[in-house]
Amino acid sequence: MSVDLEKILRPVDNPMPPFPPKYMTIASGEEMVIRQVSRDEIPDILPYIESLMHVERDFYDIVAARVYAELMAYYRHRVQDEYVLVAQIDGEIGAVVNGRMVNADVGMSLHTLALRRGLRIGAHAFAAKMEYHIDIMKQKEVLIVAESPIGFRRWMIEYNLEKRFDTPHELGGVPSWALTRELFDRARETLVVGRRPVPDKLLEKAYAAILPPSDPPTPPEDLLAATRSRYDSTGTALMAQRWRQEGKV
Ligand SMILES: CC(C)(COP(=O)(O)OP(=O)(O)OC[C@H]1O[C@@H](n2cnc3c(N)ncnc32)[C@H](O)[C@@H]1OP(=O)(O)O)[C@@H](O)C(=O)NCCC(=O)NCCS
Repeated sequence: MSVDLEKILRPVDNPMPPFPPKYMTIASGEEMVIRQVSRDEIPDILPYIESLMHVERDFYDIVAARVYAELMAYYRHRVQDEYVLVAQIDGEIGAVVNGRMVNADVGMSLHTLALRRGLRIGAHAFAAKMEYHIDIMKQKEVLIVAESPIGFRRWMIEYNLEKRFDTPHELGGVPSWALTRELFDRARETLVVGRRPVPDKLLEKAYAAILPPSDPPTPPEDLLAATRSRYDSTGTALMAQRWRQEGKV
């Protein structure tokens, strides 16, 4: 009985071509591999996302909470046609990006999360995700939203995205923006980097284990140093402190 119900609850994924791994040299001089992860690897990633849920700075909290749910949905077969890519530096997790195939022509960009800052790791991982939709899945456009000012600068401004404000995005139903094939072609020379095939040694290291981030974003030691909590009563850093004071956590 429960097995039959699971068949109804579990969507049947449509075939999607795999993302061919690539590698690049990042600003620190290190080599970074971007590759697709399988469902089995999701539990290896979840703890690193969970610890970002209370980092209010740059909206890591809301993005991490949503990414956690999306990865869990993928792992537990509760989402249609999702994929997850990771960026790894010597095995270490540097970024996670995910999205969905809506139909043959349209892709849905879900999230981009950088776990090491200041090296455009997130930007490179996002570019790989766009490459997956446009070049590998051969889609016409990708629907995108930003949840943070840095995201807005990275996607809407750097790629000069088009408005699709009549189309609600799956992330909160907010108005969508779109990366078309034409926009992607214009960005190719400047924003999309990486080489293939990935040398065996680099690839083996990446597949061997997803290692913890060496310098992940963390909550501020002094709450007043949190950029938003000081002025914003909805700041989650402040809420978490009140929960502790009230003995709720
Ligand atoms: C948006 C995001 C993926 C971009 O990742 P990225 O390309 O690797 O860029 P970074 O976040 O490291 O840096 C962005 C800017 O913040 C600055 N910055 C912030 N914290 C920094 C740090 N600890 N060290 C160095 N630079 C930092 C950088 O100087 C950079 O400025 P620039 O745009 O002039 O280059 C990443 O900021 C992130 O994961 N943010 C939280 C989640 C989020 O908002 N995701 C996108 C949802 S739309």
